[in-house]
Amino acid sequence: MKFDVVSKKVDSVKADALVFPLFEEDKKFENNLKKVDDLLSGELSRIVKSQKFKASEGKILAVPTFGKLKVNYVFIVGLGSKKKFELDILRRISAYTVKKAKELKTSDLVIDIDTDFEGVDIKEAVQALTEGAILGSYNFDKYFSEKDDFKVESISFNTSKNVNKESLKEYIHLGKVLAEAQNFTRDLVNEPANVINTIQFAKIAEDLAREYGFEIKVYDEEEIEKMGMGAYLAVAKGSENPPRFVHLTYRPEKSEGEIVIVGKGLMFDSGGLNIKTGDFMRWMKTDKAGACAVLGVFKAIGELRPNITVHGIVAAAENMPSGKAYRPDDILRAKNGVTIEVGNTDAEGRLTLADALSYASELKPDAIIDMATLTGACVVALGEFTAGVMGNNQKLINEVLKTSEKTGEWMWQLPFNDKLREQIKAPHADVYNVGTTRYGGAITAGLFLEKFVDPKIPWVHIDIAGPSHHTSGWYYHPKGATGIPVRTITTFLLKRANYLK
Ligand code: BES
Ligand code: ZN
Ligand code: ZN
Repeated sequence: MKFDVVSKKVDSVKADALVFPLFEEDKKFENNLKKVDDLLSGELSRIVKSQKFKASEGKILAVPTFGKLKVNYVFIVGLGSKKKFELDILRRISAYTVKKAKELKTSDLVIDIDTDFEGVDIKEAVQALTEGAILGSYNFDKYFSEKDDFKVESISFNTSKNVNKESLKEYIHLGKVLAEAQNFTRDLVNEPANVINTIQFAKIAEDLAREYGFEIKVYDEEEIEKMGMGAYLAVAKGSENPPRFVHLTYRPEKSEGEIVIVGKGLMFDSGGLNIKTGDFMRWMKTDKAGACAVLGVFKAIGELRPNITVHGIVAAAENMPSGKAYRPDDILRAKNGVTIEVGNTDAEGRLTLADALSYASELKPDAIIDMATLTGACVVALGEFTAGVMGNNQKLINEVLKTSEKTGEWMWQLPFNDKLREQIKAPHADVYNVGTTRYGGAITAGLFLEKFVDPKIPWVHIDIAGPSHHTSGWYYHPKGATGIPVRTITTFLLKRANYLK
């Protein structure tokens, strides 16, 4: 998809469709929309009236121009009410617009951006519209024998205002990189476990490293054993696919700091001996969403090259039942020496993360952020659309939450406390991999991870079990993987690197 910024009079715009975002409150047409209505001899306002069109969020009125303009259609796209307006609505309406354009086979769009977006900065508005268009046109159709090949080819943002076009174009580029990185993550998460297994995952990371010049080290089973990663190894044991521990590093010439991002990388989670039943096992190919988000973030920073050192860590494994599988009651020793008693083999993510976080702590970074499809309990607590955020440092938590407000990736903090800490005491080892009750399960999982992070290092854990995939999709997310939280984590890194304010 190509993007541009133009300043054209409406009667000279040549495109398939001219798009006007409109607030519910704006009953009377103004500026360019008024001009278009005049050129159409008032036909537009007549249709709006006769159809009782209300510009509620995402509603689209598409009116053919029958040769009266150099565009085939005029779209009026509802922004909803001004009171409820926020940046993310621009991503949504952009995605809906692209869908409508596909339906009508209109491939060149010009979007009028003279609307006052209620105090939202025009650069951020254009970035969000770009992201929405790219995220909204995504679908995972590679395995369909018949596909719809029609694509929206180009979007031009039209403004009559005196704006710095070059700086708008920089934000379009930023939006493009972020959304394409998110789509890259979606593509990986959507691949089933018979296509992306542990070895294949490591290969994809190596390809990415080659493409962007990252350092990479992939540890095999023997090396993982030598590093003393007894928790991670136990999880991997039941599968025919051996574990692969991936460590990517992006090292710029000038660096403002050092961050480690860790992703839960279960290529498939059957539950192991505590095997999942029927519907609970479906979608467990998405248990690698955190790991794939790490690769998405690396793709984005590989493109943007901010001044910050970033490590990406994934302990890739597959959780399967077999004669070699680990069992409930097994006692394991993680890399940092902490012993773990297994209460349930389906609480495997935290075991792989235990060793990944121990390894990350040894790098002594300024901060560690992990992303994991860790608990069903988090989905019960917050719903399918919001990620749970926990950690050992309120400042870092606030920084991540604040960033997520801009990216529209909903996140909410869950509280740690000592009473729940008591619930992961094990009968015969330092810590249990499940809580003694199922209450607060997202938090007890977070508290388990806490045992493997050096307490001197600020750390945030993001449980994305809910929003990493959706069976039917929402807003600019199609069904399947969403690619959350690639934009939040990349934006966090860009801010740390002083690339963004
Ligand atoms: N991968 C699952 C969590 C999950 C659930 C992700 C739903 C996405 C959607 C995780 O490994 C798991 O099975 N957790 C158990 C923990 C329990 C055994 C303490 C769970 O949530 O039931
Ligand atoms: Zn599990
Ligand atoms: Zn899992």
